[in-house]
Amino acid sequence: MKLFTALKLLTRIVRGGEDSDYARYLFAEKLTHVLHPQTRFSEYGRSFLDDHDFQALYHKLEPANTRSLDRKFTLVELMKLTASVAGDTAECGVFRGASSYLICRENRRRGQGQVHHVFDSFEGLSVPGQHDGASWESGNMSAGLEVVRRTLSEFEHVEYHPGWIPKRFAEVEQRRFAFVHIDVDLYQPTLDSVTFFYPRLSPGGILLCDDYGFRSCPGARRALDEFFAETEEKVVHLPTGQGFVQKAVAAPLSPDPTPVGGLRPSPGAAGSPA
Ligand SMILES: C[S@@+](CC[C@H](N)C(=O)[O-])C[C@H]1O[C@@H](n2cnc3c(N)ncnc32)[C@H](O)[C@@H]1O
Repeated sequence: MKLFTALKLLTRIVRGGEDSDYARYLFAEKLTHVLHPQTRFSEYGRSFLDDHDFQALYHKLEPANTRSLDRKFTLVELMKLTASVAGDTAECGVFRGASSYLICRENRRRGQGQVHHVFDSFEGLSVPGQHDGASWESGNMSAGLEVVRRTLSEFEHVEYHPGWIPKRFAEVEQRRFAFVHIDVDLYQPTLDSVTFFYPRLSPGGILLCDDYGFRSCPGARRALDEFFAETEEKVVHLPTGQGFVQKAVAAPLSPDPTPVGGLRPSPGAAGSPA
């Protein structure tokens, strides 16, 4: 950052008023550009950052850092797309239960008695394989079952399936799902989770992977790309690092389609039946 630019911004900051906040943001952006050039700031003034209720809840669930605030917010927003989709919800990889809490909260808001299924070893990550890079060790991110039970204690419809993925999946093989969150960081349990849940996802249902776009989780991305290479659905890669797929809804063909705009061709017009 040039000295002149820095001084100009500092003057705007000390002057106060509304512009001061924007000047601080610009200053932070320029400073970051020096320290970490590949980071890109998003546009100033995103309103999700003004959602103080959500921030307070997030802080309660994740007191140690704010780095997954955008992902947690995205998860809740994506669940809106499944509001009228039938089926339960599930999370593979729950750690202390933050995302599961948000999923259960949405389920409760809907009031349809959807069950939320929790799958985790409760002993941390399994052994990383050849596709998983060097970021993880087995046992990382371990939180006991009791911690998650406490986090989710206010919700009625929760079922726990402790064990190594995919051992306990058989317990829900007859269920259908509206929303599935996969967050196990590694190739094999991600592939096992997608392979099991995708066929059980209702039309319009969403499968969200928390790890898809992270350098630290190459195996998770590989698992999704391999699995969805041959399907109609493609993975939507979000700048938050998440990737999601929405199960296609087979659109019924109307026998007498109304053209866009609602206008029907007048009798005898070119192309209309005589
Ligand atoms: C990144 S944490 C999950 C974070 C959680 N979704 C949240 O929002 O707070 C990864 C979780 O995956 C679990 N896990 C990883 N590999 C597993 C496997 N093979 N079987 C079962 N659980 C596994 C770990 O125990 C850990 O709780």
